[in-house]
Amino acid sequence: MRTFAVKSFGCQMNVYDAERMGEALQADGMVESDELSADILVLNTCHIREKAAEKLYSEIGRIAARAADAGEKRPVIAVTGCVAQAEGAEILKRTKAVDLVVGPQAYHRLPDLLKQQEAGARGIVDLDMPASPKFDALPARRKRGPSAFLTVQEGCDKFCAFCVVPYTRGAEASRPLDAILSEARELAEGGAREITLLGQNVNAWADGNRHFGDMVAAIAAIDGVSRVRYTTSHPRDVTEAMVRAHADIPQMMPYLHLPVQSGSNRILAAMNRKHDRAFYMGLIQRFRDARPDLAITSDFIVGFPGETEEDFADTLSIVEEVGYAQAFSFKYSPRLGTPAAERNDQVPEEVKAERLQRLQALISAKSLAFNRRMVGQRCEILIERRGKFAGQWIGKSPWLQSVVVTNPELKIGDLVQVELVFAGPNSLEGQELTPVIEPAW
Ligand code: 5AD
Ligand code: SF4
Repeated sequence: MRTFAVKSFGCQMNVYDAERMGEALQADGMVESDELSADILVLNTCHIREKAAEKLYSEIGRIAARAADAGEKRPVIAVTGCVAQAEGAEILKRTKAVDLVVGPQAYHRLPDLLKQQEAGARGIVDLDMPASPKFDALPARRKRGPSAFLTVQEGCDKFCAFCVVPYTRGAEASRPLDAILSEARELAEGGAREITLLGQNVNAWADGNRHFGDMVAAIAAIDGVSRVRYTTSHPRDVTEAMVRAHADIPQMMPYLHLPVQSGSNRILAAMNRKHDRAFYMGLIQRFRDARPDLAITSDFIVGFPGETEEDFADTLSIVEEVGYAQAFSFKYSPRLGTPAAERNDQVPEEVKAERLQRLQALISAKSLAFNRRMVGQRCEILIERRGKFAGQWIGKSPWLQSVVVTNPELKIGDLVQVELVFAGPNSLEGQELTPVIEPAW
């Protein structure tokens, strides 16, 4: 019996893929173990920003050296994910310590490929990128827990000038509604009360004439599912149905991740985002009209080629104007094969670093202000894990904030009514509200 471990890097979709790879290997009779003792180590990689490949090679070097030091054979190493797709057979040329290279659309074949490897096959590379038979070939979900990811759409056709995703994950493809619903039911049976729908562009999801709102409503109707979230979305694909879903479906959480990347019209055009600032602000207004308490988050890139101090000031001002609840921000990282990497007006590293610092300080201030505005509100939290101290639990508010609550009798998966009584930068404190017992007469 072979043992395995999957180590995942990067986005939530990679977390989901790692879970599904693990389930496929378990269904094939393998046993999950820890990274240090596994016979097979799957490295599920991310290619979105710099030095991804370098990090991978040093990780592999570390694993090989550790085995050599201990006088043991190194584990079988499979490189999966986006670096596998981008680098392909190059990986086998660069290092002798990798046995398999498998792309993000081919990992359902991992059990078979590992059998071939065991039987003596060498240099296995599978980068097949069909629409999505991967999902049909994967076993039923075994995952247990109160909160689960579910990929409903993959790939991207937008071709932002900075981004590798269209090359590593392929063209936009939606999974059929029936397949999504049966997976959602499996997750609900395993205890999932919250389902987060994943896609590089979830709001582009469609199945015939059924759109995003229909899918969310169908998932929300599954027994046991109390919360639906989704990530991530492109402003160009926002539809009225998506906006309405926030107003009409009670299980839809008041949280919207709508990346804008920059506040400058000039940079948005250079990024090939296909919309300007006013269009984005119009969307924010529509969402807020539908759901006034919505927590809005975004991704930002600073130092895109040609970005001036004035462009950057526009990014700071859009953060002010929207009042984001949270945001991720990154220094622009040139990716081989993308148009922006070819430009000769790259921004110096120290300028990027300095702008990132200023942007992050502003985002933190906005985020703290958002948390503080919540003090005094009552809401439901979903208990996800134990806190630091005895009797303490940490749950998520509808706005995706971590909320600490103390009651030794709680357990993971409970939905608890609290009043938010204190807000810090990273979490809030909740006071449990005693349920009002109605008299029987
Ligand atoms: N450099 C820096 N950040 C990037 N992102 C995508 N590509 C790059 C890049 N080349 C960021 C974007 C995207 C998030 C997932 O990663 O902000 O929304
Ligand atoms: Fe990284 Fe993008 Fe691949 Fe996710 S889809 S692992 S963010 S490159």
